[in-house]
Amino acid sequence: ERVIFSGIQPTGIPHLGNYFGALANWVKLQRDAAPDDELLFSVVGWHALTLPQDPQALLAARTTMMALILAVGIDPKRSIVFHQDEVQNHTELAWILSCHTPIGKLKRMTTWKTRLAVSRNANDESEIDDSLLNAGLFTYPILQAADVLAYGTTHVPVGEDQQQHIELTRDIAETFNRAYPLPSPLLTLPKLMLTPSKRILSLRDASVKMSKSAIDPNSRIVLTDSADIIRARIRSATTDSIQGITYDPVERPGTSNLLTILAACTDEDVSTVAARYASKNHGALKADVTDAVIEAFKAPRAEFERLREETAYLQQIAEEGALKARQRSDAMLAAVRKRIGLS
Ligand code: TYM
Repeated sequence: ERVIFSGIQPTGIPHLGNYFGALANWVKLQRDAAPDDELLFSVVGWHALTLPQDPQALLAARTTMMALILAVGIDPKRSIVFHQDEVQNHTELAWILSCHTPIGKLKRMTTWKTRLAVSRNANDESEIDDSLLNAGLFTYPILQAADVLAYGTTHVPVGEDQQQHIELTRDIAETFNRAYPLPSPLLTLPKLMLTPSKRILSLRDASVKMSKSAIDPNSRIVLTDSADIIRARIRSATTDSIQGITYDPVERPGTSNLLTILAACTDEDVSTVAARYASKNHGALKADVTDAVIEAFKAPRAEFERLREETAYLQQIAEEGALKARQRSDAMLAAVRKRIGLS
C-alpha cells in the first residue's frame, strides 16, 4: 500500500515541463494505482509566498491551478486534491522539523544557492544584497518535507529539480527518527519517484530547464497557448546543425529536448521515438512535435476553459479536499506532538 504525495505551486499557467513533469504523470499514477494506494495532490500556496505575490493574482492562481489539476484528469473521488494553505498541520509540522534541521543542510540546497548567487554584488562577491532574501526562501525545503511527512508518504513523484528536496526530506525524517526512536520510528522515509520526462528544457536555451520565471516567453509553452503560438515557439526552438536526428542529451540538448517532448506526448520511450526520426531532418521533427503538443493540450485545455467558470464547484472540491487532508494528517501531528513532549 503506497501513499503518493506531490505538490505544485500556484504560479501561473503550467508549462510543458510542469505538465509532463508533474500533472500528466499524476494522472497516469492515478490510473495505474492499486486499489489500496492513496494519492494526494496539493496546490502549495505557502510555497508561492517565498517570492513577492500580488494578493489578487495569487488568489486567482490558486483557483486556476485547482481547475487545471481537475482538467487534466485528477479525480477528486479517487485522489485527495487540496490547497496546502488550508491545512495548518503542514505549517505546524514545518516548525517542529525546522528545529531538527541544521542550517548547513539548507545552505547546500541548489535552489537557495541560485537565489544567493543572484543577490551577490557583481563587483564585490563578498557582498550580498539580502533585502530580497526572505527567511522563507531559505526554509522552504522544510515546509516541503512537512507536506510529505505529514501523510506518511511513501512515494513522491517529481521532476529532477526537486530531487535534492526529497533527499533532504528523507534526511530530516531520519534525524527525527533517531532523536525519538521509541517505541518505533514515527516518520516514513519517502522514495523519490522521478517522472519519465524529468527535465524539459527551455526552447531557447537548452542549457537550462523550462521555467515559469524565465524572462523570454518564447522559452516555454503553457497549457493555454493557442495552436499558432505553439507552432511559432516550436519552429523557433534552438536545435543544432547536425544532419539527421539522434537522442544525445549531452551533445544535442535542443534536439533531444524535442524528442523528449514528443515521447511524452505519444507516451512512448524516447529511444523508440528517436529511432523513427533517425534519417529525418529537424523540420520534420518540429512539425510532428507541434502537432503532438497541440493534440496533447487540446482536451485538458477545453476542460480547463469549462471548469474555470465553475467557481462554486471548484470551491466545493477544495473544501472537501482540505477536510480529508486535515483528517488524514491529524493523527500524524498528534503522534509527533506526543513524541516530542507536547500535549
Ligand atoms: P513547482 O511548482 O516548481 O513544479 C511542479 C512540478 O513540476 C516539475 N517541473 C518540471 N519537470 C520537468 N521539466 C521541467 N522543466 C520542470 N519544471 C518543473 C517539478 O519537478 C515539480 O514536480 N517545491 C515544489 C512543490 C512542492 C512539492 C511538495 C512537490 C511543495 N511541496 C511536496 C512534491 C512534494 C515546487 O516548487 O514545484
